[in-house]
Amino acid sequence: MRLNDCHNIDDFRLLARQRLPWPVFDYIDGAADDEVTKARNTAAYDDVDLVPDVLAGVETIDTSCTLLGRKSALPLIMSPTALQRVFHWQGERAVARAAEKFGLWCGISSLATVSIEEIGALISSPKMFQLYIHKDRGLNASMIERCKAAKFDAIALTVDTIVGGKRERCLRSGFSSPPKFTPSSLLSYALKPRWGLDYVLREKFSLPNLDTHVRQGTSEPVSIQRYFSEMLDQSMDWKMVEQIRADWGGTFCLKGVMSSADARRAADMGIDAIMVSNHGGRQLDGSRAPFDQLPEIVEAVGGRIEIICDGGVRRGTHVLKALCSGAAAASGGRLYLYALAAAGQDGVERALTILKDEIARGMKLMGVTRIDQLTAERLRRR
Ligand code: FNR
Ligand code: LAC
Repeated sequence: MRLNDCHNIDDFRLLARQRLPWPVFDYIDGAADDEVTKARNTAAYDDVDLVPDVLAGVETIDTSCTLLGRKSALPLIMSPTALQRVFHWQGERAVARAAEKFGLWCGISSLATVSIEEIGALISSPKMFQLYIHKDRGLNASMIERCKAAKFDAIALTVDTIVGGKRERCLRSGFSSPPKFTPSSLLSYALKPRWGLDYVLREKFSLPNLDTHVRQGTSEPVSIQRYFSEMLDQSMDWKMVEQIRADWGGTFCLKGVMSSADARRAADMGIDAIMVSNHGGRQLDGSRAPFDQLPEIVEAVGGRIEIICDGGVRRGTHVLKALCSGAAAASGGRLYLYALAAAGQDGVERALTILKDEIARGMKLMGVTRIDQLTAERLRRR
């Protein structure tokens, strides 16, 4: 299979599986426990149908919108994801450049393999830094200050990882950050020479946003599950969120809100946006799917706070369904990660082209010319 054989996101998943050592693929593709929530995140979109209008004159359409105060060419955000140079040597540089080329927000993880400063200098398009609150308060302050200096446009504080989800595929493979070559996994790495040569001969692995303060995850291999449980501050609460938001002073988003009570609390605090998310099913397996939960959240805080529906998106029509349900945008990680792993920046750009075309085609076939015409009466639950 080659890049030109990829015509949808699932094709990229197959190509990524072909090109990656299985522990690395399983880290991306895997989720928590029985992976029920990960599956439901996507399946949820199949439980509603779109009701198109016709003869609406759709020769010219506008797919753009404003998200978190910045113009976006599509109602789609590239969610922050860790360790990208493990998936492909171009890593976050490729994703950021592709995001800029397509006029989209991109998210940079606390566990990114390229620094805040480099991404800040690399692209002028909207970028959000995804913050993990660590026990090390100095590290938290350092990341916030570095984001200010690098002129990041928003901070997304992730709130659904207070302990690590049980990532059973990673428990089996021994996947860690940085990857360690154990007897059981060494063969899998050796069987993917292109990946192995890139990993060994190109830029050394690092977590430049963290290694100023911590060794775990960079010089000391650790599983992500353990990293969360040992390094992140489990006392994080709403009071701490207020403080972090005040320290940052800029556009602020909570990533991982699922209950309407929490959504109301975020809106009452004047927070700019929430990403309704279960972390791609990688944390609490059994959690409801963001798309299933969306109507309740929109009912509770619609119009008071920007709502982004995160996770499970694999088609342009999924984005349209999320918007008809009241989200300002949809977001996702695997929707570009499989493509990154499969073919670097070329892969990500092909995936974004596919999603952009699917969104535009879907709008035309629905008889809408602007994003704000995607409203509830165009949707029916089965
Ligand atoms: C993630 N996600 C994530 N989220 C976050 O806040 N910080 C992070 O560092 C990461 N890292 C990460 C790595 C990988 C490999 C994946 C697949 C996901 C979660 C991500 O931002 C997003 O919430 C999910 O990916 C959404 O689900 P989909 O779109 O992957 O189905
Ligand atoms: C994950 C973390 C890094 O889901 O957010 O793997």
